[in-house]
Amino acid sequence: MKICLLGASGSIGKQTIDVIDKNPKDFSLVAFSVGKRTRCISYILRKHPEVKYICISNKSKAREYSRRYPNISFYSGDNGLVELIRNSDSEMVVNALVGFVGLLPSIEAIKCHKKLALANKESLVVGGDLINSFLKEYNGELYPIDSEHSALWKCLKVDSLDVNKLILTASGGSFRKLSREELKDVTPEDALKHPTWKMGNKITIDSATMLNKCFEIIEAGYLFNYPYSKVGVTLHDESYLHSYVSLTSGGYRGEISKPDMRNPIKFALYQGNIPFKTSYFKSLDDLKGLHFHSFDIARFPAIKFAKVVLDKKGTMGTILNRSNEEAVYAFLDHKISFLDIERIIELSLKNMKYIAKPTLEDILEIDRLTKEYSHKLIKELGGHR
Ligand SMILES: NC(=O)c1ccc[n+]([C@@H]2O[C@H](COP(=O)([O-])OP(=O)(O)OC[C@H]3O[C@@H](n4cnc5c(N)ncnc54)[C@H](OP(=O)(O)O)[C@@H]3O)[C@@H](O)[C@H]2O)c1
Repeated sequence: MKICLLGASGSIGKQTIDVIDKNPKDFSLVAFSVGKRTRCISYILRKHPEVKYICISNKSKAREYSRRYPNISFYSGDNGLVELIRNSDSEMVVNALVGFVGLLPSIEAIKCHKKLALANKESLVVGGDLINSFLKEYNGELYPIDSEHSALWKCLKVDSLDVNKLILTASGGSFRKLSREELKDVTPEDALKHPTWKMGNKITIDSATMLNKCFEIIEAGYLFNYPYSKVGVTLHDESYLHSYVSLTSGGYRGEISKPDMRNPIKFALYQGNIPFKTSYFKSLDDLKGLHFHSFDIARFPAIKFAKVVLDKKGTMGTILNRSNEEAVYAFLDHKISFLDIERIIELSLKNMKYIAKPTLEDILEIDRLTKEYSHKLIKELGGHR
């Protein structure tokens, strides 16, 4: 399978390359993209001489590299990622980009009849209905990379008819032991210390605010066609139970394994066609040494945004994603406080224009307007610090 990897310089990108390296008979890397971190390019090319297409965000960097590697086609700029997908002879696109920038490449992969292995959950949060309609129209294939959704996919493969509810596990992020009151003065540096996973900065902050779990509820809703009322969350300290389902016949089914993203990446690359085991257990008490806590929405109120998005759909996910994205980067830049992230999202969801059945153009426009509005809020809230 010829792979086009978007976001090769990131955490999921590097682990995807590990999986390709370990399975050279089944996969070859023919195209990839990086954003600002261009240093990894020559290293990747030494190990993967079959690469013929690269996208670099910055145009002058792309020109510089195309002089060094004249046999490779380079793309850059706003349309670079889409052109990379369109022109490369890949059969599968692994979307490991972070944020809204992943949406158009996800859609392009489906339109080009390429299999889509999706880590970029923001694509589904922003345009879940649109992506599902393109999957239907183009007879497309989407394989989730998120460990929770990979686990749910396996559970549903065993027997989807017996499943009553999907339950996502959440580590609780860096501040899981702090009260709401104690969250007032936490710093980005503290927030970046995730207890169980080593990930990119944005998703690490999203884990601390619980926005990551909120996004994952929405992702599960669109991937498996479940309403908000049928998707729950359990806090689980060790991140060994990746997610589970409750069964109408009683009991639970879940996937338990060491936290290592290379497992769900491999499962997605093989399109689910490798043997897997889920653990079938009658009671959570059977799992000695693992710690579970019931989810307290008063402590993690950000989860309520998932209800708003899955109940109303339309442009709600676009507004949620953009206001979060702007707020997270403002927090990382010390412009606003940790709890301001939730405030900015709440105000954006309340005040931005809602469109029930948006086109792609509507989504792009609402995204732009939400960005403007979030910047205004960041300025106002930042002024009080
Ligand atoms: N990390 C995990 O364990 C994990 C687990 C489950 C799901 N996910 C999801 O996987 C996705 C990637 O997460 P990550 O942790 O791998 O993030 P990351 O380490 O920050 O990597 C993100 C990648 O996207 C590229 N990128 C960012 N903005 C870009 C832009 N405007 N144009 C072009 N490329 C851009 C980055 O390029 P540069 O760095 O070169 O600028 C980098 O290659 C996210 O949606 C996340 O929620 C991650």
